[in-house]
Amino acid sequence: MPWPLLLLLAVSGAQTTRPCFPGCQCDVETFGLFDSFSLTRVDCSGLGPHIMPVPIPLDTAHLDLSSNRLETVNESVLAGPGYTTLAGLDLSHNLLTSISPTAFSRLRYLESLDISHNGLAALPTESFTSSPLSDVNLSHNRLREVSVSAFTTHSQGRALHVDLSHNLLHRLTPHSAGAGPPAPTIQSLNLAWNRLRTVPDLRDLPLRYLSLDGNPLAAVGPGAFRGLAGLTHLSLGSLQGLPQLAPYGFQELKSLQVLDLSGNPKLTWAGAEVFSGLGSLQELDLSGTGLVPLPEPLLLHLPALQSISVGQAVRCRRLVREGTYPRQPGSSPKVALHCVDTQEPAAKGPDAL
Ligand SMILES: *[C@@H]1O[C@H](CO)[C@@H](O)[C@H](O)[C@H]1NC(C)=O
Ligand SMILES: *[C@@H]1O[C@H](CO)[C@@H](O)[C@H](O)[C@H]1NC(C)=O
Repeated sequence: MPWPLLLLLAVSGAQTTRPCFPGCQCDVETFGLFDSFSLTRVDCSGLGPHIMPVPIPLDTAHLDLSSNRLETVNESVLAGPGYTTLAGLDLSHNLLTSISPTAFSRLRYLESLDISHNGLAALPTESFTSSPLSDVNLSHNRLREVSVSAFTTHSQGRALHVDLSHNLLHRLTPHSAGAGPPAPTIQSLNLAWNRLRTVPDLRDLPLRYLSLDGNPLAAVGPGAFRGLAGLTHLSLGSLQGLPQLAPYGFQELKSLQVLDLSGNPKLTWAGAEVFSGLGSLQELDLSGTGLVPLPEPLLLHLPALQSISVGQAVRCRRLVREGTYPRQPGSSPKVALHCVDTQEPAAKGPDAL
């Protein structure tokens, strides 16, 4: 943001209400020294399905239609003067079971869409192609299968954050490269608490954050994360079933900085090679797993590691002993872990694992 604009926004603050459709509340926020910018937020939540289609002021930036028992939405109810400029739309906590592929086609400036807590069973492939979306929340629906290509947006490269947690997904259809639209620009993807048994093929997505928490993943083996060299955060917490980590399963994740494997008491693994390739990993969360004591060769596979959590509340930090620099050729630096039980009032002394 350029400086002068930042300054004007800093002087902001005024909020007034204005006349509005009966039952809705319209708040106008003005910004700038002379109130030169204004944004209208329209709250029509909790009124019931009869309010649709609801007329909204011309300069509406955000519209809340949550908790209205809406069963369908299409382009004719999401249209009109105020809709063209809408940047945020909240349709959460309704009764939507399907959406028409063109429902959002007139929302040419829509950046944030919340459809969480509905009953959506399917997602049409071209739902979002007209909007420059950056946030789509589809959590708490009944989606069983979704095509990655469904998230192709009119983004022109803008990063997209997708929340698909708490659905019934057992499959994610990969984006087919080649002809057709480019791969969606999904940067963070929450797939937690679905029915995925294998890591889905997410190749070609510019992913940085991925959560697969709570899925019944059976095994993470070589190739599981193929094509995700840019991933920095991966969460595999509370996996259902009997998760197994095979050697070289994380091999492709060269940029991974944070790996969360917490809450997996039944996790089994096949030696330190499981973590090979994780050259950038800084934080490893193994709390609530059976992986204590840690095998010593682990640290050799994780040259950038700064901290590990193990057991119930034990946090360990990497210590590189003084005097190990400059390194002697051929000798590896003396590293040790300094562990503290954060639940015990008097922290224990250094404890090399
Ligand atoms: C859009 O939905 C409304 C009810 O919500 C319905 O009356 C109308 O016929 C639908 N329009 C189209 C084009 O499907
Ligand atoms: C999506 O919606 C759910 C439920 O309303 C909420 O808990 C979650 O934080 C939202 N996700 C994002 C990324 O905002």
